[in-house]
Amino acid sequence: MSGPRRLVLPLVLALALIGAVGWGVMHRLRLPAITHADIDAALAASWSTAAPDWKARLKQDETQRDCTEARNAPDAGMSEAIKVRERKRIVYPPDGVLLGDWKRGEALAQSGYGGRFTDTNPAQANGGNCYACHQLAAAEISYGTLGPSLTGYGRARGASAEARRAVYDKIYDAQAVLACSSMPRFGASGFLTVEQIRDLVAYVMSPDSPVNSPAKP
Ligand code: HEC
Repeated sequence: MSGPRRLVLPLVLALALIGAVGWGVMHRLRLPAITHADIDAALAASWSTAAPDWKARLKQDETQRDCTEARNAPDAGMSEAIKVRERKRIVYPPDGVLLGDWKRGEALAQSGYGGRFTDTNPAQANGGNCYACHQLAAAEISYGTLGPSLTGYGRARGASAEARRAVYDKIYDAQAVLACSSMPRFGASGFLTVEQIRDLVAYVMSPDSPVNSPAKP
């Protein structure tokens, strides 16, 4: 009977030792809190050989910083401040015409050209890449779903000047409409021109655009 009893103390001591060492290791391994500055530094380091115009993209503007700080859920005050700030950046065509050529707009909506390291032809215009996030023409079978479907958008919104302007504003600077939208600010960032944006408005809004033709039965 004394054999097993003699083992109790060493066993308890061994378990205590394992526990103490384990706790010590866990404590040493606990990661320090990661700050925004740490993430900025890691990003900058991983793009250290990038061209200056690429490096410039790592620097957040005020709106991007606000949305990062608020984790894309700004309170009402910040949301309004962002929208006011972004609205000021919207530039309209000098002739005031917001409806361009839907056929050119269609080509832009389908093109993802521009901004990638393989996009080196200065003669080729940047595209809007709208299909990466939206359904547009009903006949198109390949599209992303990050954004809502825009099929029939012009039919539903009508042909008023306000409705066209709302779409122009959305494409020019999505964050003037929804403060921390994940849709790119195509005009404000200089990625698309005023002319391209009005061609895209026509693609979304024109009654004769395939976006607004009734879906085939
Ligand atoms: C990276 C994804 C992304 C791309 C690319 C993108 N969008 Fe969006 N778009 C969104 C998201 C997400 C929303 C919904 C949230 C919001 O309103 O910002 C949206 C909303 C919209 C709306 C408003 C829809 C409504 O509910 O009234 C329009 C119009 C629109 N996009 C048009 C376009 C056009 C035209 C293009 C191409 C030039 C485009 N988008 C490219 C993500 C994108």
